[in-house]
This record gives sequence, C-alpha cells and structure tokens, in this order.
Amino acid sequence: MPSLMSLSSFALLTPPTFNFKPTTLPPNPSLPYLSITCSSDNNPKPTRSSSWVSPDWLTSLSRSLTMGQDDSGIPMATAKLDDVSELLGGALFLPLFRWMNMYGPIYRLAAGPRNFVVVSDPAIAKHVLRNYGKYAKGLVAEVSEFLFGSGFAIAEGELWTVRRRAVVPSLHKRYLSIIVDRVFCKCAERLVENLRTDALNGSAVNMEEKFSQLTLDVIGLSVFNYNFDSLTADSPVIDAVYTALKEAEARSTDLLPYWKVKALCKIIPRQIKAEESVTVIRKTVEELIAKCKEIVEREGERIDEDEYVNDSDPSILRFLLASREEVSSVQLRDDLLSMLVAGHETTGSVLTWTLYLLSKNSSSLMKAQEEVDRVLQGRSPSYEDIKDLKFLTRCINESMRLYPHPPVLIRRAKVADVLPGNYKVNAGQDIMISVYNIHHSSQVWERAEDFLPERFDLEGPVPNETNTDFRFIPFSGGPRKCVGDQFALLEAIVALAIFVQHMNFELVPDQNISMTTGATIHTTNGLYMKLTQRQIPSAFVPTSSRWKVEGTLFFIHPRPREESAVYRKRKRQSWKTKPWRAEIKPDWLYWSSPT
Ligand code: HEM
Repeated sequence: MPSLMSLSSFALLTPPTFNFKPTTLPPNPSLPYLSITCSSDNNPKPTRSSSWVSPDWLTSLSRSLTMGQDDSGIPMATAKLDDVSELLGGALFLPLFRWMNMYGPIYRLAAGPRNFVVVSDPAIAKHVLRNYGKYAKGLVAEVSEFLFGSGFAIAEGELWTVRRRAVVPSLHKRYLSIIVDRVFCKCAERLVENLRTDALNGSAVNMEEKFSQLTLDVIGLSVFNYNFDSLTADSPVIDAVYTALKEAEARSTDLLPYWKVKALCKIIPRQIKAEESVTVIRKTVEELIAKCKEIVEREGERIDEDEYVNDSDPSILRFLLASREEVSSVQLRDDLLSMLVAGHETTGSVLTWTLYLLSKNSSSLMKAQEEVDRVLQGRSPSYEDIKDLKFLTRCINESMRLYPHPPVLIRRAKVADVLPGNYKVNAGQDIMISVYNIHHSSQVWERAEDFLPERFDLEGPVPNETNTDFRFIPFSGGPRKCVGDQFALLEAIVALAIFVQHMNFELVPDQNISMTTGATIHTTNGLYMKLTQRQIPSAFVPTSSRWKVEGTLFFIHPRPREESAVYRKRKRQSWKTKPWRAEIKPDWLYWSSPT
C-alpha cells in the first residue's frame, strides 16, 4: 500500500498558544473564489480506527523521543487524521497552510521517520535561501536523483557551481529576444490556430492540457531546437515527465524509502512505471544531443563573440556544444534534462492558473485585452513590446503569488544554525519553505486571498524576491534561484497576450476545479473552457492592414507558417467567393472578418 505508507504521520498534540493571527480577512464578495478543496475521489480515505500510520502514532513517538530535549523554540504541529487523509492524491501544501494559521510562521511537523520544520515567514525564508553554504537541497536531491541524475538542478558543491556557471550564459538577452520571435510567438500562434476549430465547434477545451503541450513545444525548441509538436501529435514525453515528477513527490513522503533497494524497483509497479518514464525522457534527450553534436563537429563551430547565437539553430544545446566546455555526455544530458523538466510543467501551470483567474475576474480580463490591443495593434508581440504589457505581466505575477510552482521549497541544514526569531535548528534538519503559505499569509499580504494584479505597482519594477524582501518568491531566491525566470516570464506573457488577443473564453460551468500537486500545482480534473474567436476592435488594427472592399472592412494579418486544415479550407472558399481576390497577395492573407 505505497500511497498509504507515503502519508506517514503527523502530530496529535494540544496546539501551543502562538501569537500569529489566523487568516480571517472577509472575502471580497465581488470576486468569485476558488474553493480550496482537495479532491481525493479516486483514493479511499483511511479509517480512523485501522490506520497504523495515523497522526497520533508516529508523532506521539517523535514527541516522546524529543521530550525535554527540544530547545529549538519551534512549536510542534498537531494534525487531525482528516487533515492527513486530504493528502491522499491531493495537495500536500493545503494542510501546511491550515497549520500555519494555528501554529504560526514556523512549526515542526513529524512526517513518518522524518521531521520537517515548516517555514512561512519571509525573513526566515530569506535566511535559509541566501545561506546556501549552510543549507543544501537535501531531500529534493535524494528523491529526484532517479530522474535528474547528476543534473545541476539537484547537484551540490563544486559540480553545481561549475555546471550552473556553464549553463547560465546561454540564456543571454540576445538569445531571449530571438526566441521570443522564433519560438514563443510561433508556438502561441500555432496554439490559437489549433483552437480555432474548437471555437467554431463550440467544444469544451481542456486548457491545462493545451498549455502543457504548448510549453513542451516551447522548451523543446528553445533548449534542443527540436519540435515535439505535441499540439498536434501525442507526446509520450509529457506523460513521462508528469509520472516522474509525481514519483519524486511521493518519494519525499514515503514512510519507508524502499525505492533505495534496486531489486524492489524492478518488481513494484509504481517503480517500474517511474523507471520507464525516465528511460523515455533520457532516450529523447540523448538522441537530440547526438544529432546536434554531429552538426557542430562537422561545421567546426566555436563560440566567437559575447551573446553568441547560431542563426540556424539558436538553441541552448547548440550554445553549450559550441562553447566547447569539457563535459561528459551524461552530464550534458542530465543538465539539459534539468532544463526540460524544470521549464516545462512550471510555465504550463502558470498559464493554466492565470487563465482560470482571468476567467473569474472579468474586469481584469477586459483591462488585459485592452492593453494587448493598444500595445500590439493586432500583431504578435516583439521582445521590445513586452515591457509595455504591464498589466498583463502583473496578472501573471499575481497568479504566481496565488499559485506558486512549486508551492514548497525543501532544504536540509548542513550545520546547526539559529534562524531569525531565535529558532534553533540542528545539522541534518529538513526544512520546508512554504512559498504557498508566505504568498497567502494575511500577515504578509493585504487581502491575501484576492486576485489583485494592481497590488504590484504598474510603473514599478517587476516584483521579485529582492524588491519584495522575500514576500514574493515564485522563482525562489539566493544562489539556487531559478535560472529560467526571465525566459519563463517572457514565454508566459507572449503566450497569454496572443491567446487573449484572439480568443474569448469562459469556464465550462459546474466544474470541480481543485488542486493537486506534482512539482507544480495542477488541477485534479483539468480546466475546461468554452472558446470563441475574438475580433480585435478595428480602432486597434493599423490602417495598413485594414482593407475596405465594397464597403466591407477586412483585417489582414501575415499568414502563419503552418496552415491548419480549417485555414486551408477557409482560404479555398475565400478565393472562390470574395471579390477582392486579385488585390491581395496570398501570402498576406490569413484571416478576414467583416466588422
Ligand atoms: C514560471 C515558470 C517557472 C517557475 C515558477 C520556476 C520556479 C523555479 C524555482 C522555485 C526554482 C528553485 C527551486 C529551489 O530553490 O529549490 C527553480 C530552479 C530552476 N529552474 Fe525554474 N521555474 C520556471 C521556469 C523555468 C524555465 C523555463 C527553466 C529553463 C529554461 C527553468 C530552469 C530551472 C533550473 C535549471 C533550476 C535549478 C537551478 C539551480 O539549482 O541552480 N525554470 N525554478
């Protein structure tokens, strides 16, 4: 029963008094709310009487063991079995939030043989994240090593320093500006084109799935110059990545780390599935590296300038191979796999939840669409346009506050330390920094549960951990901060701008939208939307692309490179029936709509 075992145990003690105000701000009635329910429909709930992994058992034991010795000043959380049963197939971070409201910004949680200190305070988070020398990745590295191998996302010490230093230069400004145009815009345009059929049919679309496909295509092209083409073909890689990440999360709470025994991994179905997934991902990456290496060798390519980009293949892989850094194929594979995994699901989830929030907040959506129309005038964004899409950017920032990916960061103390507030931790102590709690705490944010993009000054800098003093840490902070933060923000802004420019959308009614976690916050059942094609108001379409023919106004946009079946059909019909046929170059005709 691996899933029950993985729930382990939580303390059942009397709550200590703690001077920490629970979140009691009245909800704003004008804003609809996501009910934070954790769906565990597919999983039987443990019964109070039968469970030997009930909260009481191990946590009481852990309490007895530390009785009289715990001078850390950190209260121990008491969990009810109902809290724990919510974890079954659900969202681990939700009970952490409830306990924060009971025990305060730092508490101890006995979870099976492990004991976590859970941090929900910006100053303590800042201390832990900035002092990387004292705090290692610990458990995260242990439970995801089967996937990342020696990749720099989990490597420590000298190896991490060297590999991070080798990879970061590939994400320079010139690379980003080229990728915006060649990859982010193209993939988002393809998504919109792909969705037109659904919009015309009126069918419900699972936007979480679509965004996951979009971001896999983006990361594939940007990192490897490889088109997974997952928007139009099934990609086994998506399933493989999700399975592997879910396995890493399950391992982090397993009561018995039986997966450390290699022989068991060959017979336990969950482990067999995980190993198969890793094989799919590794094989894909190895093939891509081999192909690119051959080309670089054949052409004798070598980096010869700052901000180097190969024009025919601007990918990160090409940059790394052309940099001629001494690195083994396995290390390169694991580093790139780190980028593929870290950059795929995260951005997909950001887009999913931002769309969800906009669908529930019509005034913010209207404001975002007005801005997109005004700034872009009917075209796709360029790198330069992005700084002017301020409100849209704030919508994404605010979405990452409410739904941070991952919701919890994990560290392990390498030495004994004293945290701000005079809390003591011993060497070896596992620490969970609950980004979700910090972002939702009423001690940290006013109207913390509301979606208010305007809370971040439109004219101010893009919020990050430094300018908010670790109140806003969606990309973490300190030396191990996300290397893809700029990349991810640009990607999300471009995708959302192109989507809201061309589509109106509304939630399919009566959906149970609840949260679950892999490495990011997912919906449990998808995010189903009804789409309709949106007409860009004519005032925002430049006169050069507006054509008046026999009193009817047509908008003309450059044709996307890939043509869908719907587009081709529409074009054939236009050629047969429209009187303006001879006047427009076919290459420029993409879409026409009478006002
Ligand atoms: C909105 C999307 C993204 C979010 C929310 C996000 C979030 C994060 C966070 C929170 C961390 C730090 C984890 C920790 O401190 O333990 C991280 C690390 C990392 N991210 Fe991202 N990320 C995103 C997109 C990307 C993209 C697009 C890439 C690659 C192009 C990427 C590559 C990485 C890598 C390689 C690391 C490990 C860095 C290290 O340990 O030195 N991420 N990410």
